[in-house]
Formats: sequence, structure tokens, C-alpha cells
Amino acid sequence: MDSTFTQTDLNMASNAKNGSFLNDVITGLRSNPKKLNSKYFYDANGDKLFQDLMNCDEYYPTNCELEIFSERTDEITGALIAGGDAFDLIELGAGDATKSTYLLKDLLDKKADFTYLPIDISENVISYLNITLPVTLPGLNITGLNGEYFDMLKKAAAISARRKVVLFLGSNIGNMPVPEAIEFCAELRNHLSEGDMLLIGMDLKKDPKVVLAAYNDKGGITKRFNLNLLERINRELGGNFDLTKFDHYPTYDPESGACKSYLISLEDQQVKIGSENIHFQKDEYIYMEISQKFTLMQTDQIAINTGFAPLTQFFDGKKWFVDAVWVAA
Ligand code: AVI
Repeated sequence: MDSTFTQTDLNMASNAKNGSFLNDVITGLRSNPKKLNSKYFYDANGDKLFQDLMNCDEYYPTNCELEIFSERTDEITGALIAGGDAFDLIELGAGDATKSTYLLKDLLDKKADFTYLPIDISENVISYLNITLPVTLPGLNITGLNGEYFDMLKKAAAISARRKVVLFLGSNIGNMPVPEAIEFCAELRNHLSEGDMLLIGMDLKKDPKVVLAAYNDKGGITKRFNLNLLERINRELGGNFDLTKFDHYPTYDPESGACKSYLISLEDQQVKIGSENIHFQKDEYIYMEISQKFTLMQTDQIAINTGFAPLTQFFDGKKWFVDAVWVAA
């Protein structure tokens, strides 16, 4: 197999949002077993499909966290305001800030001295928030930061020396395998100072049928969400995946809490991506995503092992999801 990329490949790759998209895709599909990185799910179509998923009956995590943010607002902001000193409220992967808007509004009502610094890899998201939030939330100080989380955290520290409160919501931490999640939290801690805080949303272990249904919705949105990455490869990297030749296969292991999604090749087939040929055997899988579910003990362990002290936890009524407040120790 040819391992060098043609100029056409590279040109097409430079059109992609992330320059390493092509490299990651080829490396992943050449590995054994084959894998793709779920961070690439989120092009414009993927964003729309994820919005649809969040509104579908089976996908519970968003509603659980919205319930926490809407019903426990006063207690959450009370914990974040802590001693009342001025702080920077930094949100990793802010998206449309629906959940954080509950907190922002309450913090403004409480006349807390804070600046909101949403961080997102999407320039569109940041310019949308910079423009719309000061209109919907008059008096809000906002400085949107467009880029990778840790680069932008460095930038945030350079902008001001105020206490940092970081929001990492939606169980995005679950999209990393546990060892990587631990590394991520440890690196996050390294970017913070003692007394800074993290409000982290984590999806909890529950009835395995409930978990599996959330990643196997009857309307087939999760399937389209996964297949969309193949479509994105076709569009941005000159691929020729035939989407009808792959099926979505979600699994949930109640023991480890790992909920994983795979795409299964329905036949022996050859797929071209630019000048690369990738062979799939019938029934061969591509590992697409992990959505890890945690026990409460695990959440505390991750905090303690990565230099944080667990302070308090907020749950939805069913105790399916937790938003935990950790303090940098
Ligand atoms: C963004 N992330 C937390 C979602 C999750 O639940 O893992 C992505 C998702 N994948 C399938 N459905 C939703």
C-alpha cells in the first residue's frame, strides 16, 4: 500500500477544519483494529445530528444536566462564587452555552464579579457567543477564545490572574478512554492554581438498557451521526465510502461502564481515500467512539488522583448524571 499522500490529498486536507484530519483518518484505518476519532464527528452536519440526538427521547444525558442546571442554579452558583472574590468562568467546548446560560444569568443577578471565557475549537461558535450573549444577558463580560483547550487556558491565564472556575459539561470527559480522561484532568490541573475550581459533568452507570437505548435510538439518529463521519471523509478527503455497506453497532458493558460504537463492514470491500486504498473484510469493524459511564466512587477517585479535592455534587432527580465541583488542591 502506498503510504505517501499526493498533492491532491494534501490540498483537500488543507480544506478540512483540522489539518491533521487526513493523517488521523489514514493512520486509524490502517491500524488493526481499525478506528476513527469521534472528535471528527462534529462538522456542520454532525453538529445538526447531535442537536437532533439531544432532542430525541432515548438520549437522556442532556435533559438530566439541563434539569440540574435549571433546578439547582442557586446552589451551583453559590458554590462557584465561594468566598466572593472576582473570577474568570472558563467553559471548555462551550457550544451554544444553553446550560451555562442558567449560571451566567444567576451570577449576573447576584452581581458576581466575573468574566465569561468560552473556549471552543469552532470559530463560528465563538463569534456567535461573542455577538449573542451580551444581547441576551446585558452586563455580561465575555471574551470568547477560539482554539484548543489547553492553548486557550494558557491564554486565559495570561489575560488575567483572577481565580479560575472551569466548566467541562455534558460528560464530554466520557468520550476519552479512562486513562486518557485521567491524563486530561491531570493536565487541566496543571493549568490551574490552588483554589481554582472545576465543575465537571459526568454520566453515571445505570440500568444498562437505558444506556444502550441512548446510543441506539429507534429513529436511527446515532447511526446517522456515526455514518456522517464516513460521509465527511468522502467530502473532505476524497473518499468513496458507500454508506449502505456499513452498519452501526453500539455496545454497553455494565461492568466497565464503557459504551462503545462501531461501524461494521457488511461485505468485503475496498475503499479509496485520496490515493489510499483501505481494505475491509466482511464483518470487520471500525471503532468509532467511547461514551464512558462512571460510578460516583470513580468520579471522586479521578478528582483525587489528578490533584483535585471533590467539594460537592449535584444530581438530577433520577441520579443518572452528576455535575461535580472539584477544587484544585
Ligand atoms: C458529546 N458526547 C458527550 C456525546 C456522548 O454521549 O458520548 C456524543 C454522542 N455520541 C452518541 N450520542 C451522543
